[in-house]
Amino acid sequence: MIVSVFHRWCGTPLPRCVFLFKMCRRKMLNYSTSYSVLRRCWMKRLPVFSNNFKQQFSNLSTQSDKEVIDLSKFPVDRIRNFCIIAHIDHGKSTLADRLLEMTGAIAKTDKNKQVLDKLQVERERGITVKAQTASLFYTHQGQQHLLNLIDTPGHVDFSYEVSRSISACQGVLLIVDANQGIQAQTVANFYLAFETQLTIIPVINKIDLKNADPERVESQIEKVFDIPREDCIRISAKLGTNVEKILQAVVERIPPPAAIVGDPFKALVFDSNFDHYRGVVANIAVFAGHVKKGDKIVSAHLGKTYEVNELGLLRPEEHPTQKLFAGQVGYLTAGMKNVKEAQVGDTLYCKDQPVEALPGFKPAKAMVFAGMYPVDQSEYPGLRSAIERLTLNDLSVTVQTDSSLALGAGWRLGFLGLLHMEVFNQRLEQEYNASVIITAPTVPYKAVLSSPKLIKEHGKEEITVVNPALFPDRSVVSEYLEPMVLGTILAPDTYTGKIMTLCLSRRGVQNNMVYVDEHRVMMKYLFPLNEIVVDFYDLLKSMSSGYARARAYSTGKVICERLKDSIPRHLFEIAIQAAIGSKIIARETIKAYRKNVLAKCYGGDITRKMKLLKKQAEGKKKMRRIGNVEVPKDVFLNVLKKKDK
Ligand code: GTP
Repeated sequence: MIVSVFHRWCGTPLPRCVFLFKMCRRKMLNYSTSYSVLRRCWMKRLPVFSNNFKQQFSNLSTQSDKEVIDLSKFPVDRIRNFCIIAHIDHGKSTLADRLLEMTGAIAKTDKNKQVLDKLQVERERGITVKAQTASLFYTHQGQQHLLNLIDTPGHVDFSYEVSRSISACQGVLLIVDANQGIQAQTVANFYLAFETQLTIIPVINKIDLKNADPERVESQIEKVFDIPREDCIRISAKLGTNVEKILQAVVERIPPPAAIVGDPFKALVFDSNFDHYRGVVANIAVFAGHVKKGDKIVSAHLGKTYEVNELGLLRPEEHPTQKLFAGQVGYLTAGMKNVKEAQVGDTLYCKDQPVEALPGFKPAKAMVFAGMYPVDQSEYPGLRSAIERLTLNDLSVTVQTDSSLALGAGWRLGFLGLLHMEVFNQRLEQEYNASVIITAPTVPYKAVLSSPKLIKEHGKEEITVVNPALFPDRSVVSEYLEPMVLGTILAPDTYTGKIMTLCLSRRGVQNNMVYVDEHRVMMKYLFPLNEIVVDFYDLLKSMSSGYARARAYSTGKVICERLKDSIPRHLFEIAIQAAIGSKIIARETIKAYRKNVLAKCYGGDITRKMKLLKKQAEGKKKMRRIGNVEVPKDVFLNVLKKKDK
């Protein structure tokens, strides 16, 4: 009976449920953990007896003997909220592994490698794309403390995750690689924390490396961030050296949250995701009061009332508790079935005790826009719900409906960068089994209109254009404006000349240049965004600048050539043209097939014939018909990925 309940509950194959049920009978696992294991492994399609499954299972089973945690024993002054920030690959997730192990949140094994990187895309690419929360118990000077850790991504394309995490914390661990020293994202992340006035604990990681030079990195930290070198903690996250010192510093240096237990319940939703069975799972930071199962809560955003079904800590797996108190961080489900409910940045409060909503988060500013279309129009509704659910988990993506003559109905999505766009696409495929066509990305432009008729139509003089198809003609525009970014480059001084030439060729204007130590230089350049984000796709920009027009011809030619390589030959000739307005600036031709592919398979060679026909049929399935030309679904992405010739 229980097995079949599990089977229906989790949508998991029966043998897997039987296995878990046996574990429960042997009291090796309780049902709530089994549910969680099943769901996670099923989502990732892990076979029951695979090593991966066993690793996940062993991580979870250490917590299976979950004692009921009484969170009331952690008054606000024994809570610390902090996040780990750094440049990409400086060791944030590895340090998080050690902290989880040392505080007993996960079992100590050699297999713990970036356990907070749970998404398949994170494991495959070896990068963090989503901030993850874990609550740790740590005893310091005889008193047990509750430490809420958030591991953040390092790549600039996911910096929105960092800024959101920072707003839920009072302190940060700023990790710097002892070999590489301060990098561009170290500087950007430092300023994010510094502007929010958080306590910053500098940590120099990878001191076990042969080329590690912690002395030099300490000097850089002192010079660039004005933090005394004595404040730095030297560690090896890989070996666990000095990691205990970090826990001590977190308790001693970071202040407790300014939360009030006696006030009415008020919580900030700082992250949320969609669970197929329980609806929206909201990650909350409790700012005041407490909340328990069965409480009636209201979402300030929609004004709707819900009953709390489940709440608890993330350790990093969900660990249900009776209550959550002021200053604590955890998760909550309340039967929110629609992705529009429990939006990130929303405030939750008790039904009978309304409170003023918290300011929430500044919306992310999309840097790159691309069209997204279903491979087949019949998949439109499915893809819409997949995009809605994924954007609930990734708030930095902006979505507008869009349609194109060739590709049908779709959306224009805004991303923080090209990697962000690729990761979003990959997550759609892996987590929602949705395959899409993505068009070439562009950056947003502004146009100052000169035509009174258009100004009246838009109700303003300056409009923002994110879709190339809607770019206004220069005859009705007095001025085009393009987005600029201030870029920071850190490099050994031997490369300075080459870098400056490169920046100049990308229309970069130097703002600043300082030596961070004897050999490394930090340069700040003002760039047009398009030059650095989508460096080969600047046909539209050509309208706003004479400089780019000169490059439009070569860029148009390169894109046409790439499309020629990516689109298969047809029975007829295909012309690929690049145009500025109505003027054709480049052209390539895909020649027609002349021969029948099966022509040489004379009668007897039936297996080869079958293979060729099967291949042809499979190929056709994957293709999307645009007019008379069949275009493979990933052609646009392939065109973008190819390196400049
Ligand atoms: P992102 O989240 O993608 O920005 O990366 P990260 O900062 O979380 O880095 P991660 O923990 O994934 O580590 C990157 C690489 O550095 C991995 O190959 C780790 O094994 C390695 N690494 C981390 N800490 C140490 C260390 O103390 N010593 C050595 N030798 N290698 C380390």
